[in-house]
Amino acid sequence: MTQPPPNSQFDRYAVMGNPIAHSKSPLIHQAFAQQTGQPLHYEALLVSKEIGEFAKAVQTFQDQGGKGLNITIPFKSRAWELADHCGQRVQRAGAVNTLWFDEQGQRIGDNTDGLGLTTDLLKNHAAQIQGQRLLILGAGGAVRGVLEPLLIEQPALCVIANRTVSKAQELAELFGSFGAVSACGYEALAGQQFDLIINGTAASLQGELPPLPNNLFANGGWAYDMMYGSGLTLFLQWAIHQGTARALDGLGMLVEQAAATFYLWRGVKPETQSVIQQLRQQLRSPPRQPRFSAHLPTEVNGPRLPEPTRYGDWEKNGRCIDF
Ligand code: ATR
Repeated sequence: MTQPPPNSQFDRYAVMGNPIAHSKSPLIHQAFAQQTGQPLHYEALLVSKEIGEFAKAVQTFQDQGGKGLNITIPFKSRAWELADHCGQRVQRAGAVNTLWFDEQGQRIGDNTDGLGLTTDLLKNHAAQIQGQRLLILGAGGAVRGVLEPLLIEQPALCVIANRTVSKAQELAELFGSFGAVSACGYEALAGQQFDLIINGTAASLQGELPPLPNNLFANGGWAYDMMYGSGLTLFLQWAIHQGTARALDGLGMLVEQAAATFYLWRGVKPETQSVIQQLRQQLRSPPRQPRFSAHLPTEVNGPRLPEPTRYGDWEKNGRCIDF
């Protein structure tokens, strides 16, 4: 674990996870801090997955005077167990992505993932959830964390489809009091149509796609992937092929959950659009070529890869895609 910055005028925050090197949270929170003039330092901390190591890392961070933590995979449910206080919504989510410490040293836990998703959909993209037919793919921790905020927006119905149907059924029971929630396997979706399909599975991390039947999008139906990447995720590629009217990835959700956390910690609401754009730009820019690459023989540079799919290609085809 790294030591706190020498300048103790800065409040210390961090994100803990494993792996963590890819995390955009330090960049996002430093951008928020700069924009709002908040004196804070934010870093990424890699924590061992060995039993007990996460609890130790949180304790050490707190003992060193750290103010708050973001928690990411695979520690969100352990963070929930470690929290001394969290609200009903967080209890139902069973996962904490935000921790901070009060004056008595008590650990307060919250989960801003769901708010990040609904803010991105409703505010950034002017999506409609109320009265819409909603399909959620997956029934793991990520979906559990966002279900309540989605259901509060009162979709007409919410179907949770998962490879392991029993896990979807558990979630449908847990959140059934918030609206018309049902559960099924992927094959049972055939013949149904939805206005908004949200991918919350981890399938694309393995380069896979859930086995979805054709024609799931209603006319004008939208696709949202809670994942994001430098190009289209597999799910969004599938959705575009299926004729979705709008394909959105989870970069906005990432920034909006961070903004909600920043507000909980600092009581200040940061502006998010410029940060989303900055990250999008970074994701789109191709990696820098070695300085003398033009003079190197092709064997050294490696084979030429196909051009990545660009925003404009889809725009030309009359589809609106924000990724
Ligand atoms: P997370 O915290 O990211 O939600 P998780 O709790 O392990 O991680 O849940 C992963 C989700 O992705 C589950 O819904 C899982 O389906 P199962 O419950 O049937 O395992 C889903 N998932 C992972 N890989 C998948 C794949 N290749 N195809 C379809 N669904 C997949």
